[in-house]
Amino acid sequence: MGSIPARSGLVTAFDELPPFHPLNDDDVRSYLHKAVDFISDYYKSVESMPVLPSVKPGYLRDELGASPPVHPAPFDIAMKELRASVTHSTFFKACRLAGFDPANFRSIPTGPETDYGVDPVKLLAAMQADAMAGLVPTYVCATVGTTSSNAVDPIGDVAKVAAMFNVWVHVDAAYADSACICPEFRHHLNGVERVDSISMSPHKWLLTCLDCTCLYVRDARRLSQSLKTDPEYLKNDASVSGDVTDLKDMQVGVGRRFRGLKLWMVMRTYGTANLQEHIRRDVTLAKMFEDLVHADDRFEIVVPRNFALVCFRIKTTGVRAADEVNRLLMANVNKTGKAYLTHTVVGGRLVLRFAVGSSLQEERHILSAWELIRKTSSEMMN
Ligand SMILES: Cc1ncc(COP(=O)(O)O)c(C=O)c1O
Repeated sequence: MGSIPARSGLVTAFDELPPFHPLNDDDVRSYLHKAVDFISDYYKSVESMPVLPSVKPGYLRDELGASPPVHPAPFDIAMKELRASVTHSTFFKACRLAGFDPANFRSIPTGPETDYGVDPVKLLAAMQADAMAGLVPTYVCATVGTTSSNAVDPIGDVAKVAAMFNVWVHVDAAYADSACICPEFRHHLNGVERVDSISMSPHKWLLTCLDCTCLYVRDARRLSQSLKTDPEYLKNDASVSGDVTDLKDMQVGVGRRFRGLKLWMVMRTYGTANLQEHIRRDVTLAKMFEDLVHADDRFEIVVPRNFALVCFRIKTTGVRAADEVNRLLMANVNKTGKAYLTHTVVGGRLVLRFAVGSSLQEERHILSAWELIRKTSSEMMN
């Protein structure tokens, strides 16, 4: 057994350092209890909160001092600051990061004839034109559940076209893949066996808090062959044996958060059947809203609903006037703080988006939101 030599009389530079005060376990316990209470209180009273924050951009900067506190701030003050915290076009950004010239990106126009999903014939024509012009088609990204309108690209047909040019096919199913845990939505992924990669984000619709995105690749070696590093200081028996998958070889950085744990906890605590019911309830509520819109002939559904997003608008004659009326309706509804509509442009027309997705939404919330939209529209039309 070893022993530590007595330090009698030895004064080192270490002794002259001011003491470091780590958190003590009683404080940690008390802080964590307060944090859980804060989240539970918020969850319980969320219905009474306005959908729009009452703070303006820059609010937090004014609340915080010009520099961080030198001495510890009481936990209750730190919690108060948390209350005000606030928070896409990622594909084009990723292409730029990968070094592709934006002049070489192609967006294939879509229309009502394909329910706003990509037409494989148009994709083929665009790829052929590029190849004829001496360019090398490299990567195709199809989307299942577009951000704008939840349109679905036919991924099997897209993959067949892409295979003619030997390009990588990625499927972005960030939102809609969650629905595919239910057998009745699984057909949206038909053809997935032909693609190279697919991503989904459980933080969008699978009750997992930000951020958690899963990337599935057909051949993980192609990732690790591009990103593997092998510095001496990271070698250990497990990595040398090749028995473990070292995730540092599938990403740019080395360190990595354990996001998979959150998803695992969600799957364990809810269970698959319950998660499927969560998706089905949201889709049923969205369908209910869609039926209400259909039943009022002042409105139209612009994109057929696939999941829990309804894209609708007030019908009026004259495109410009209709866009303005719809924008005003959105602004007036949002001003009430009782519901929150977003918008997009589909086929050159401004469209309102009604999204169902909160685990606390019930039928009565949908009915009251529709009532608010109807009442606001009637007031505007009068
Ligand atoms: C289809 C799709 N892909 C990618 C993203 C980007 O998601 P995030 O910002 O959560 O990474 C979104 C966001 O709405 C999306 O709908």
